[in-house]
Formats: sequence, structure tokens, C-alpha cells
Amino acid sequence: MALLNILKYPDPRLHKVADPVTHFNGELASLITNMAETMYEFNGIGLAATQVDIHKRIIVIDISEEKNSLITLINPILKTYSGHQEYDEGCLSVPSFFETVKRYELVSIDYQDEHGQTRSLTADGLLSVCIQHEMDHLVGKVFVEKLSQLKQQRIKKKITKLLRSG
Ligand code: NI
Repeated sequence: MALLNILKYPDPRLHKVADPVTHFNGELASLITNMAETMYEFNGIGLAATQVDIHKRIIVIDISEEKNSLITLINPILKTYSGHQEYDEGCLSVPSFFETVKRYELVSIDYQDEHGQTRSLTADGLLSVCIQHEMDHLVGKVFVEKLSQLKQQRIKKKITKLLRSG
């Protein structure tokens, strides 16, 4: 196992569009293990491969308090969505910022598990928010881009400062 380096906004590599996973092998399994370990280490509830500079359609999520309910989503596709909800979102690529974002309330997705098996999932509440947030990463979108230009500029400045000061 190994911790992976998380890209920080506004790193342009966060805007790359991920490619589908086609090989379900040991390399994929160890990447998933490392992504999960990295997410848990930094107290995240979701991590997309894009955030660790691997541009493949892979997401790990665990919204449980106990950190024992890992969900791995490979090649997820949004099938249906309805309603709206607002949630204060954070992101491991945007350290120390939480901002209210509007998303769908209910989503259904098709995806593959780590063995390549096709599965479906319907989610509401926080899990639904998390799935939508992580799926955005796979198409090169970061949640701050849903905020006003003014807020985006402020966040960019503050993070750049934060990173410089280490
Ligand atoms: Ni994120």
C-alpha cells in the first residue's frame, strides 16, 4: 500500500477527462487499494483517480463514520436523476474550503466493480452528492467551478497562498 499525491486546485491536470477502464487486473486492484488508503488518510469521503493524476474512470467512496463501507465505482454512467438538494461540499483537492453546491437529490448509476462486473446503484442524500461530485472529477470538473467567479478567484488565491506557505 502507498499514499498517493493529491493534485490541488487550480492544478490544470484536474481538468483532464478520464478514459474508461478496460483492464480489470492486479494493477487496477492495487490502484484502488492505494486510492482508498489515501482517501482514509486525509479523512475524505470520496476520491476520483483524476485527483491522483491517473486519468481513468475510477472512484472510491466511503461515507460511513466507521470507514468500513468502501464503494468502488468503475466506469460509472448516470442513468436517471431527479429532485434537488444543497450540501456544503469539500474536496481533498480544495483543502479547507466548504461551499454550498446544488445537486440532484436522487441519482441512479450503472458501473462496474473492481472485477469488471456490471452493477447498479440508486442513491440519495450524502451518497448521491458524493457520487455526483466524484463523477464531475472524471470529466475534469472541480466543485468550486459551480460557484460564482468571485468566489472561485478568492479560493484560487487562498489555496495558492496556503500551498506556498506549505
Ligand atoms: Ni473532490
